[in-house]
Amino acid sequence: MIELRSDTLTQPTPGMRQAIANAVVGDEQKREDPTVLELERRAAELLGQEESVFLPTATMANQIALRILTEPGDVLIAEEHSHVLIAEQGGPAAHSGLFTRPLPGFAGRLAPEQIRAAMTDPRSGHEPVTKLVSLENSHNSSGGRVWPLDELGAVVETCRALELRVHLDGARVLNAAVAVGVPAAEIGRRFDTVTLCLSKGLGCPVGAVVAGSEELMRKARRAKHLFGGAMRQAGIVAAAGVYALDHHAGRLAEDHRRARRLAEGLAAAGLSIELDAVETNFVQLDVAPLELTKADALERLKQAGVGLSGTVHPTRLRAVTHLDVTDEDVERAIELIPSALGVTRTAVPAGR
Ligand SMILES: Cc1ncc(COP(=O)(O)O)c(C=O)c1O
Repeated sequence: MIELRSDTLTQPTPGMRQAIANAVVGDEQKREDPTVLELERRAAELLGQEESVFLPTATMANQIALRILTEPGDVLIAEEHSHVLIAEQGGPAAHSGLFTRPLPGFAGRLAPEQIRAAMTDPRSGHEPVTKLVSLENSHNSSGGRVWPLDELGAVVETCRALELRVHLDGARVLNAAVAVGVPAAEIGRRFDTVTLCLSKGLGCPVGAVVAGSEELMRKARRAKHLFGGAMRQAGIVAAAGVYALDHHAGRLAEDHRRARRLAEGLAAAGLSIELDAVETNFVQLDVAPLELTKADALERLKQAGVGLSGTVHPTRLRAVTHLDVTDEDVERAIELIPSALGVTRTAVPAGR
């Protein structure tokens, strides 16, 4: 099976398993686990923040950030298909009592004027207080799309002028940083809080961090315990994170290169792919012109030995490259996908 469903499906490499086996551990709740402390220090630096807190998942990282930046009844603004709104089980309402204001995005991005227009009146005795904007980079639902740095800067500046706090769901912010060609800190430092996931392109079996100021991270540690996420000898998994920062962060460009080759090969074979939208490790494929449903297309692909997944879009599928996808896998997928979907035009060879 060529596994292109998600970058969450990576298997720990032999080197990572060795790092896990050799991890020096302690009581993480007491902040006595040296491996967790090392990961937290490295991740904070990477993201341009003072501190970070190790957590089991990026969902928990996002939800803790929302919790510590708001009061119940506050308004959270986010793009309508962002992970915090559509894939965290109503967490903003359930955990933090937030009133959510979804805004339509372009490739997952919001414009400063949309945020200005969505503001409630802070002087009103009736309206809820708009407190927080959450941005996502890269943006999952739109196909791993990336914020250009100037657009990101303009939105964050607008939020600051409106006295709003800003969270980055940067589950894949290292992919975004590679795509725009800047250190991740250049993106992360602009935000109050930043989520980074370790179990996607970085290839860890588990883990994420939330990063922010020392004061906010004190609150994040309390919220972590409240949410049931404080652990004990967590260095056993944090060791995978340290290993990933050393060995996997630097190879994400390979995933992007393979995604581009896949997109170009499939487009050349006659499939409906928006090549300009392939900015990171995601490729979206529209099955509408083939008169297939997403479910039918996925089943045919599975039978042919290629795993893709659905998206929020009614007719688009998604292929994701990652640590376990080789150049040979990509070439094979370029042959298998069109034939499984009934498209017979011959693909151009690699390099053209
Ligand atoms: C943008 C984004 N944020 C957060 C998450 C949540 O990650 P986790 O599965 O670690 O909770 C995901 C997972 O797909 C994601 O794509």
